[in-house]
Amino acid sequence: MSLDRFLAETKTLVDGALDRWLPPAGVKLHDAMRYAVFAGGKRLRPAIARAACRAVGGTDEQVLPVACALEMLHTYSLIHDDLPAIDDDDLRRGKPTCHRKFDEATAILAGDALQTHAFLILAEKTPRREAVPTLVLDLARAAGTDGMVGGEIADIEAEGQAPDLATVESIHARKTGALLRASAVMGGGAGGGSPAQLRALSAYGQALGVAFQIVDDILDETETAEVLGKSPGKDRKDRKMTYPAAAGIEASRQRARELKDTAVAALEGAVDAPILVKVAELIVTRSK
Ligand code: IPE
Ligand code: IPE
Ligand code: MG
Ligand code: MG
Ligand code: MG
Repeated sequence: MSLDRFLAETKTLVDGALDRWLPPAGVKLHDAMRYAVFAGGKRLRPAIARAACRAVGGTDEQVLPVACALEMLHTYSLIHDDLPAIDDDDLRRGKPTCHRKFDEATAILAGDALQTHAFLILAEKTPRREAVPTLVLDLARAAGTDGMVGGEIADIEAEGQAPDLATVESIHARKTGALLRASAVMGGGAGGGSPAQLRALSAYGQALGVAFQIVDDILDETETAEVLGKSPGKDRKDRKMTYPAAAGIEASRQRARELKDTAVAALEGAVDAPILVKVAELIVTRSK
């Protein structure tokens, strides 16, 4: 199957389930949650989870709650990342950020509620009940102090510091890599993958997650707001410790490609997943 078709199918499937499983519109908090989730977005974390589940012989039905939980958690991270106290951004997914469209208090609480709702859907809707404790642990670890939130504070603390590659990769592995890695592992876990398959998916996600954020850093310097759906040039302005700030654009491209190759190599002999290979290529060649 072509990657375009797989991504389009994933979007239809996941957006339908998100619409069913998010709290109903008509209340400000729910409207803000739905606004942020349905503003756009590539749905790459759901796509990785779905492809990983399929690669271990699992079904779409088995992976759907995982895919939705990942997208809710990710959207919460974007709402909070855009807040005035963090990156202070006005544009996200081609639309005004949640705190601009609503207000700061609503955006903070919509983020909180999306995080909680992610765990609720994961625990309540996962069909293979025996997989639930491990899936909850995987998501909690990826989201928390050793993962996304830990990476976000490290990102803020590194603003204005002299960049070095080890620090950048450590920030990237946590703020973005942890959830990408969890997408691959949880997709495989939802489908009943073997320990060896989950180890391969973990190594794939870990390398690809860092590559993903390096490319995000490059696009911030090279793309337009129209293409990105977010305001470019912010990283330099905020003196963020990005990969291009530490090594320049060419070395950043090179490192992203190297990590992509590491990711793909990790699958060999353990999981036959042509879609995951294509997703890895997309992540390092994308323009948004
Ligand atoms: C943006 O993620 C935030 C980062 C982790 C770099 P995406 O580029 O996946 O954003 P959406 O979901 O497509 O909006
Ligand atoms: C943030 O990285 C990653 C998250 C955990 C949300 P960035 O701050 O670079 O993400 P963008 O560029 O705002 O999407
Ligand atoms: Mg940020
Ligand atoms: Mg940001
Ligand atoms: Mg960025």
